[in-house]
Amino acid sequence: MRIAISTGGGDAPGLNAVIRAGVLAALQRGWDVLGIKRGYAGLLGEDEVIPLTKDTVRGIAHMGGTILRTTNRGSPFNYPVTQADGSIKYVDRSDELIANAKALGIDAIISIGGDGSLKIAQQLVNKGMKVVCVPKTIDNDVPCTINTFGFDTAVSTVVEALDKLHTTAESHDRVLVVEVMGRDAGFIALYAGVAGTADIVLIPEIPFNVDVVCDAVLARERSGRRFSIIVVAEGAAPVGGQASIIGESLPGQAKRVGGVVEPLARIIQERTGKETRSLILGHLQRGGQPTGYDRLLSTRFGGAAVRAIEEEKWGHMVALQSPHIVFVPIAEVLSSEKRVDPEGDIVTTAREMGISFGDRLGA
Ligand code: F6P
Repeated sequence: MRIAISTGGGDAPGLNAVIRAGVLAALQRGWDVLGIKRGYAGLLGEDEVIPLTKDTVRGIAHMGGTILRTTNRGSPFNYPVTQADGSIKYVDRSDELIANAKALGIDAIISIGGDGSLKIAQQLVNKGMKVVCVPKTIDNDVPCTINTFGFDTAVSTVVEALDKLHTTAESHDRVLVVEVMGRDAGFIALYAGVAGTADIVLIPEIPFNVDVVCDAVLARERSGRRFSIIVVAEGAAPVGGQASIIGESLPGQAKRVGGVVEPLARIIQERTGKETRSLILGHLQRGGQPTGYDRLLSTRFGGAAVRAIEEEKWGHMVALQSPHIVFVPIAEVLSSEKRVDPEGDIVTTAREMGISFGDRLGA
């Protein structure tokens, strides 16, 4: 048995721990393991395919990033090919990929990635390839699994930043507006906002009213709390408005959301008279060492992916449905959506703690 591992899409802390676990579990069964570099580029002659041995994965579980590297512009079904005149054409190279995998004797692939990688995996399975998936994203927005690895680390990074921002905001009586990642989901903002005791949390799932946000800042001022920390998910939008988009997306890439905090900070300063500054935490949230929780989840996912191959669960994704790791058909994952429940326990608890979501006056 020879399997190959690929990491695709944006990186997330814990990728290396999944690779390590997959390799060790496979080697223990006497299987061979290959690593496909940069998404599927290695299988298209655009990068390498390397042997993954015990030595290759030694000492990597605690490291951020991915030893295989990654890309979010590498779908074999829509692969960017530079033309003689420098323009880029997108072509279907999936047949070439399948032929190259066959030539290398690859029996099955573990694809570690987010929604984009899941879609590619489903397309490959439809063409007869044997693929199992491991869900990855710091955004935690993959359905059918309680958590994706990387999310806990990103939340910890944001909480650490909020702890630091609290002290300086309080010293200067300032309002600090902090943008965090999450694309169309508010999980990072919500979890970090509650854990980091933010005063206002704005998420895509609860459209905000800027007057309500300003009112919450002024209410704190009247009660003697002269600073405020506002955590804003990059995809948050005002009632009836759209999420802010940063510049142009490159062709073939998902839209880039974000940039909401700077104009928001300006409006808050104008309307409240409070000095207001903004910052975007950005890719800090994707880097660094995975937390213990993420290392454990990654290791469980990597081991389970090998069990999924053993059980011939082609087209399935490993998922955490506590306390169990289960196999869910990718088609089921792709047909649903995972977002923060605005009526759920964490939002309710946040409101009980006095956190405003910018939607209700006096709350
Ligand atoms: O999906 C993970 C994520 O980090 C999002 O939170 C963010 O919007 C996006 O990726 C950023 O992608 P890139 O690194 O391509 O700008």
